[in-house]
Amino acid sequence: MYILLMGPPGAGKGTQAAELVAEFHIPHISTGDMFRAAVKEGTELGKQAKACMDAGQLVPDSITIGIVKERLAKPDCHKGFILDGFPRTIEQANALDCTLTDLGIELDRVININVPVEELVNRMTGRRICKGCGATFHVTFNPSTTGVQCDKCNGELYQRADDTVETVTKRLTVYSDQTKPLIDYYQDQGLYSEIDGRQSIEKVLSDIVTSLRGE
Ligand code: AP5
Ligand code: MG
Ligand code: ZN
Repeated sequence: MYILLMGPPGAGKGTQAAELVAEFHIPHISTGDMFRAAVKEGTELGKQAKACMDAGQLVPDSITIGIVKERLAKPDCHKGFILDGFPRTIEQANALDCTLTDLGIELDRVININVPVEELVNRMTGRRICKGCGATFHVTFNPSTTGVQCDKCNGELYQRADDTVETVTKRLTVYSDQTKPLIDYYQDQGLYSEIDGRQSIEKVLSDIVTSLRGE
């Protein structure tokens, strides 16, 4: 199953992708996670990405397209993937089309998780992530038992550097200017499903699975 997960920052792409990995046993490819890993490792890519991420801007297409191409060519993608946070520009979408054609892959579905802006700010500013396993929590909507430790691995929880009100606001503007036009792009391809992301995590998941199974 080749799935593209779209939606504004904070819509729940990462949360749902983690559930879909368990359901379909395919890799979760998140460009945001790849950039954060590079920042942590202190690589040249990490340094370039950090400056853009901290400013709430997109990492340049030339860099982003390169790392995704490399990732999709790995053997674990041959049976499927969940692509989260890519493409985010029309140029990236065109590049993805070419890469998939080269690999002989056709997308099965493009899922857009839709959440109103006011709710997105609350979701991002209250997000907490586990340093150990990367699990995502929310101080109000999806709290860990202790609030400071991960329920899955007891790892310490932290807040993303770009989850401040100021950067979140910038990211939402960038989304609306550069990424939202992709909705028309995928609607035209006939693969597009919109999911109401204001519902509970469980209900969003069941709506996505229903859409993927074509029920
Ligand atoms: P990235 O990491 O992809 O961030 P994003 O798209 O802004 O999305 P988020 O990860 O913030 O949100 P999400 O939809 O995954 O929500 P989550 O499940 O965590 O990108 C970060 C940066 O990297 C970009 O700004 C850019 O600089 C760069 N970048 C990445 N990809 C790029 C690309 N292709 N091109 C160029 N640059 C790129 O959920 C959010 C919170 O809500 C959590 O706390 C969660 O617990 C909670 N929640 C989830 N679902 C629900 C629900 N149903 N009800 C209530 N709460 C919920
Ligand atoms: Mg995410
Ligand atoms: Zn953990």
